[in-house]
Amino acid sequence: MSRIAIVTGASRGLGRNTALAIAGHGGDVVVTYQSRAAEAEAVVAEIQAMGRKAVALQLDAGAVAGFAPFAERLRVVLREAWQRDSFDHLVNNAGHGDMALITETTEAQFDRLVSVHFKGVFFLTQALLPLMADGGRIVNLSSGLTRVSYPGFAAYSAVKGAVEVLSLYMAKELGGRGIAVNTVAPGAIETDFLGGAVRDTPDLNQAFAGMTALGRVGVPDDIGPMIASLLSEDNRWVNAQRIEVSGGQAI
Ligand SMILES: NC(=O)c1ccc[n+]([C@@H]2O[C@H](COP(=O)([O-])OP(=O)(O)OC[C@H]3O[C@@H](n4cnc5c(N)ncnc54)[C@H](OP(=O)(O)O)[C@@H]3O)[C@@H](O)[C@H]2O)c1
Repeated sequence: MSRIAIVTGASRGLGRNTALAIAGHGGDVVVTYQSRAAEAEAVVAEIQAMGRKAVALQLDAGAVAGFAPFAERLRVVLREAWQRDSFDHLVNNAGHGDMALITETTEAQFDRLVSVHFKGVFFLTQALLPLMADGGRIVNLSSGLTRVSYPGFAAYSAVKGAVEVLSLYMAKELGGRGIAVNTVAPGAIETDFLGGAVRDTPDLNQAFAGMTALGRVGVPDDIGPMIASLLSEDNRWVNAQRIEVSGGQAI
């Protein structure tokens, strides 16, 4: 029986790459998106072309009221597409970047970061746990910016730090069900994140490349295969870890 992963924010960027890498490892995927349904359906088509099953579902990762209806839609999809009542892996990846100095951060910016990157991860996981098979796995996305500071990322990095602590507690509380929980903390990666700032702003790109031991910023292919590998049986004993995947950024 193939494993089924839910990857949030899989219409683009790291989530998309992770979904494709999971399919490459023989897994099936539920791809979630916020607004870009066509991109999500394109990912589904790519996965199906690889001979795996995939379904796209809409989800706002920052709207807790939508999580119970999402879990219900997921339950129906699992039954219809897989004839199952459970899924195996959850990758809490969805999220946006928002850069502002502490002196200039608005309450609205702060609240949205908390809602999407922390409160959403907490309550989405809570809502989906009844559907997760015992022995399942959770990967939460953090950032290299929780270990070092970079001006403009205070609120963003603080909520990612909260996710790292949450991951530790998830690992403790869910271990009895055989569920392993890890945090993956990417360095700066060229995606649409922050309006494509790392990819499209030469100064920022060079700043992060210059502080990276391997001499460049990351690309999605540096992350998705690592997460797929972490979810595989090869890494079944890795639990409660923060794993930085950054080419050696700021060491
Ligand atoms: N890129 C980096 O340098 C970097 C570094 C460290 C950590 N990260 C983390 O990695 C994760 C993915 O980032 P990325 O670089 O892949 O970003 P991205 O290219 O901008 O893609 C973001 C994805 O998340 C979805 N999304 C955004 N806000 C959402 C929300 N409120 N609810 C549901 N889905 C939402 C988007 O859906 P739509 O396509 O429908 O809009 C899209 O699929 C994030 O958690 C980010 O914090 C990124």
